[in-house]
Amino acid sequence: MATEKKYKWHKLAKPDEFLVAEGVVMHLAVPEKHFCITQHKGEYFAFQAKCPHAGASFEHAHINDSGCLVCPLHRFQFDIRNGRNVSGEGFYLVTYPIQTNEHGIWVGMPEQIW
Ligand code: FES
Repeated sequence: MATEKKYKWHKLAKPDEFLVAEGVVMHLAVPEKHFCITQHKGEYFAFQAKCPHAGASFEHAHINDSGCLVCPLHRFQFDIRNGRNVSGEGFYLVTYPIQTNEHGIWVGMPEQIW
């Protein structure tokens, strides 16, 4: 039986507040995790702060026209919508869900199950 992933939601901004410009990658933190956020085609995306290949910081990385994060160190590319390593090296980018509602813009961090 498949279990549904549970998240702890953290408010990042008010609903109409500006978080980050289109294509810019910004570093943020919530109590349990550092992560990066960007905007692509009017939608926010959140993902791990460091590259799964060799740990380069994604702050100041760029998002290409296809919506892929390009690592500044070795140029591996990751789809920010699903974490897929589209340049084919076999790594996986951890992504975090973003929700917007009347109370704000939220990021979901997976709850630890021990
Ligand atoms: S550290 Fe990101 S591709 Fe190597």
